[in-house]
Amino acid sequence: MKNPKEENDLMEKIVSLCKRRGFVFPGSEIYGGLAGTYDWGSLGVTLKNNLKQNWWKKFVDSRRDMYGVDAAIIMNPAVWESSGHVAGFSDPTPDGKQFNVMFKTQVGAGEEATLSYLRPETAQGMFVNFKNTVDAFHPKLPFGMAQIGKAFRNEIAPRDFIFRVREFEQMEIEYFVREEDWEKYFQYWKDEMLEWMESVGIDISKVHELEVSEDDRAHYSKRTIDFEFDYPFGRKELFGLAYRTDFDLKNHQLEYIDEAPTPEGVGVPTASVGKKITPHVIEPTFGLDRAILAILLSAYSEDQKDGETRSYLKLNPNIAPVVCAVSPLLKNKPELVEYANTKVYAPLKAEFGRVAWDDNGNIGKRYRRQDEIGTPFCIVVDFDTLEDDTVTVRDRDTGEQERIAIKDLESYIKERI
Ligand code: GAP
Repeated sequence: MKNPKEENDLMEKIVSLCKRRGFVFPGSEIYGGLAGTYDWGSLGVTLKNNLKQNWWKKFVDSRRDMYGVDAAIIMNPAVWESSGHVAGFSDPTPDGKQFNVMFKTQVGAGEEATLSYLRPETAQGMFVNFKNTVDAFHPKLPFGMAQIGKAFRNEIAPRDFIFRVREFEQMEIEYFVREEDWEKYFQYWKDEMLEWMESVGIDISKVHELEVSEDDRAHYSKRTIDFEFDYPFGRKELFGLAYRTDFDLKNHQLEYIDEAPTPEGVGVPTASVGKKITPHVIEPTFGLDRAILAILLSAYSEDQKDGETRSYLKLNPNIAPVVCAVSPLLKNKPELVEYANTKVYAPLKAEFGRVAWDDNGNIGKRYRRQDEIGTPFCIVVDFDTLEDDTVTVRDRDTGEQERIAIKDLESYIKERI
């Protein structure tokens, strides 16, 4: 563990890097900002999109039992009555009063206007579409619904950069099981969550499981594990896993007619087959903004290169906002620039999208700039390239360079992302 001064420095370094290099800006900055809001710059958006895609691929696309949803942010207020959020989604103010943290808004004009809320969790968008999903796809238990989207909370004390904000994104799963199976699937999702965290580069040695006591659990939960992370400002919640029982489906008066397993073997036959039941819910929930913060904190590294301290982000190539940068060795040699542009940059850009062109300053400076934003590969076109159609590819973490034929570049990168 680093000392507190180093930890504070680390947070400052991340915040400053995020602003300077176009990952995350303070919200509404030119008007003095708005507490608890942040705007995402070009690299930040790509990083977020890559992470969302990675999550969706693992938890939705690659599975047979998962159904995606993209529900409206403004829902009928009756949803929030039934879900218990109107009555219970409150935090204490400094003077001890209970303050409901849902953002209120008006739907419609004048006399017709009705009170509504911006959703404080994406979960309800899945519960209210439970029946639609069952009717449309006839899934067999166990199955899940998944959604990625914005959530809003009028946090009393937003703080610590993107850790506690008023507008954020959640990636959530509601996994429907038979009541008797909940413990099995709770354990299963715990393992899945940990596996994903590690795969996207969250330093797992800084992740801790906290069994949340009954007093601290949300109103709907019978068991919750918080995955906490060692942030520079302390050990705090990263993600959560909750056993929501049949609380939500019961409150929305939704049922399910249990069915036999599908031919692919999804689902298991039980005594309840053919009967109306209310499935129970295991909910793995991931805050996207906190995921990004944990990834940046895990990735930030410093070492000594050429007698200087260099800082770099050891991002997984799969989510790095720039997968490779292409440079002509010299900016003032038209034959190098032309070759690098048409034969290397253009095809890679068309294939991967997240490819940078960098011809500013000397090569060392370009490497440092790319290291700082976590670009895993820097490709340089030099005079040998003109002779033999090979380029140097430099590895961000080791600084080592290898010569690769241009025709193999695409597969070289594909194998590593
Ligand atoms: N549907 C369950 C639910 O919303 P939660 O623990 O209140 O549970 C889920 O929130 C996740 O959303 C948290 O684990 C965290 O990652 C993220 N989150 C919650 N409040 C947040 C905030 N104010 N700023 C950033 N992320 C937040």
